[in-house]
Amino acid sequence: MELDNTFIREVEIELGPSGKNTTLSILQLEEGECGCVLWDAGIVLLKYLITTKGRKHVMGKHVIELGAGTGAVGLAAKTVGAEMVLLTDLQKYIPLLVENIRQNIKCNLTAVDSAVNHISQKYKEILDAKIFSFEKGSVGAMTLEWGNQKDMAKTVNYLAQFAPTPVCILVADCVYYEDGVKLLVDTIVHLFKSLSEVEILCSFEHRETGNKKELLEMFLNLLKNLHNLVITYIPICEMHEVYRSNDISIIRISQ
Ligand SMILES: C[S@@+](CC[C@H](N)C(=O)[O-])C[C@H]1O[C@@H](n2cnc3c(N)ncnc32)[C@H](O)[C@@H]1O
Repeated sequence: MELDNTFIREVEIELGPSGKNTTLSILQLEEGECGCVLWDAGIVLLKYLITTKGRKHVMGKHVIELGAGTGAVGLAAKTVGAEMVLLTDLQKYIPLLVENIRQNIKCNLTAVDSAVNHISQKYKEILDAKIFSFEKGSVGAMTLEWGNQKDMAKTVNYLAQFAPTPVCILVADCVYYEDGVKLLVDTIVHLFKSLSEVEILCSFEHRETGNKKELLEMFLNLLKNLHNLVITYIPICEMHEVYRSNDISIIRISQ
């Protein structure tokens, strides 16, 4: 993916009296597929993460974002106190994710090498060249194609190098095509089975066009009825007072 014709979306992270306000500069592409821009369901989840209640889901945790696109949601998790953030998407999004890490985590490319150097040889072999980590592995971008066994194993192995820490998985606006729904559910189930102390925050827009309503029902049914996962809706009154909408839900998925 060429990073030509880009534009910046500034996202305010207002932490109120309890922290320092900051602004994320999110690079987006004028043309390209859906992950090239930050979606409304992504904004709603991102803004929920900066509320007092939302922050508790990620503070001190290892965070994995699935279908991250620009990486804005995971980067917001880092700014509110996640210990380690791993942004994942299809391989073609890695340059955009790395650029957004670089824009917002204030680092340079030499940091990539030094950060990767602290990883033991065993993990380097698993990770190959697709991971870029900064500040001792605190924010990284990695290919995770849903349902791809190798990618899922790589993600789990990447986390294994750190001391065991609860994991929060973020998924924003990723339920939108039939094959993708099944693969996303497989990935979620795999991560629940492979990691301990996992919770997932997933946001989606209630769309009426085409088969979007059925796809959402399929996603929720697979999680609940096939895999016995517990789904809890975050009440709208707990979301960010401005960035919330009756058309967008955030669910917590747990075991
Ligand atoms: C609608 S975009 C949402 C992007 C971002 N989460 C947001 O809210 O702004 C959906 C994302 O899912 C990713 N995606 C779709 N199919 C995927 C797959 N099979 N494996 C991994 N990521 C996938 C896309 O590349 C894209 O970044």
